[in-house]
Amino acid sequence: MNDPCTALAPAITVSLPSATARSYDIYINNGILPKTGELVRSVLPSKKAYILSDDTVFGLYGETVRNSLAASGFEVYEFVIPHGEASKSAENLVLFLNKMAHDRITRSDCVVALGGGVVGDLAGFAAAIYLRGIPFVQVPTTLLAMVDSSVGGKTAVDLDEGKNLAGAFWQPTLVICDPDVLTTLPADTFADGCAEVIKYSMISDRALFDKLHSPIAPQLNDIIRMCITDKQALVEADETDKGVRQLLNLGHTVGHAIEACSDYEISHGSAVAMGMVIITRAAEKKNICPVGTLDAVVNLLEAYKLPTKCNFSADALFAVATADKKRDGDHINLVVPYGIADSRLLRVPATEVLEFIKLGLGEV
Ligand SMILES: NC(=O)c1ccc[n+]([C@@H]2O[C@H](COP(=O)([O-])OP(=O)(O)OC[C@H]3O[C@@H](n4cnc5c(N)ncnc54)[C@H](O)[C@@H]3O)[C@@H](O)[C@H]2O)c1
Repeated sequence: MNDPCTALAPAITVSLPSATARSYDIYINNGILPKTGELVRSVLPSKKAYILSDDTVFGLYGETVRNSLAASGFEVYEFVIPHGEASKSAENLVLFLNKMAHDRITRSDCVVALGGGVVGDLAGFAAAIYLRGIPFVQVPTTLLAMVDSSVGGKTAVDLDEGKNLAGAFWQPTLVICDPDVLTTLPADTFADGCAEVIKYSMISDRALFDKLHSPIAPQLNDIIRMCITDKQALVEADETDKGVRQLLNLGHTVGHAIEACSDYEISHGSAVAMGMVIITRAAEKKNICPVGTLDAVVNLLEAYKLPTKCNFSADALFAVATADKKRDGDHINLVVPYGIADSRLLRVPATEVLEFIKLGLGEV
């Protein structure tokens, strides 16, 4: 029998040492979406596949994925949530778990997350805890989800007290990226993903930083692959986020505070962009990174139509930032740029974070 997937080769394979996680392949190919069924079938013997998606994405791509799974012999079920962060809730988690139980999903069946980070995080967490863990496949449809949230196994829902407060590490069995689906993304959602791409370049990837100075569209697949490769290295070295993986939080300590202070009106990508500017300005003023680093970051973010100014006060941001779950006792691991493509973890007393934010906002 011909293997329908022989023409396709995974771009990246993530190999994890932990007992619960296995290696998994990541495909990055234009037009691969209709092959979802074949690719899932090549790694999973499941009888049933449960698609979790949001209403926007399901309207655009649900039928393609459903038909593809059905053609590969899966009995296909669907659970569609309203689009938006509010859907990444404990309520939807329980609804979905009950739906899977009602439809007699077993441990050998699978969940297929078709959507952005909201869908991927919710689907992954449901898969992690349903029957103490069933396989799940990520089919990311936003740039942010392709370069970041679909890889690495962080899954979560939001609680009343904050974002991502309940979750688990649960690695996908397969990740399928079809960059063609990004053509339907609204411009500001695409820009959100660009903030994460710029983040990777500032953490350690000079080649990516240089690439981002040429038009992104013709090199999108390369850029997605470079970002995932950067994340792969950090995840393989530190699956559970106790050490180097925390570098991925560049711009996030303050970024999360900005999101929270705005009541989540400011998107994650925009907040990360502002967070990167604040931490870079502080690092430059403290002579941690060379003069010129801030201008380089601001210019790049602006070229991708991302915001670089923040109107919240240092005190307001500090109060939220130090309540963040990434706090480690009295200390916080800040990710600080020492130059372009050279960010490092700096363990500072929580009180010192206020000084960083004040410097970063230009308040002192
Ligand atoms: N797990 C992780 O490691 C990780 C990392 C970063 C972010 N996140 C989480 O990811 C979430 C943000 O993800 P996001 O930015 O993808 O947001 P999202 O999932 O809300 O998607 C953004 C919007 O784009 C729409 N959309 C998605 N794909 C589309 C397409 N191809 N065409 C048209 N519209 C489309 C969605 O319907 C939604 O309205 C946050 O909850 C964040 O906490 C998780």
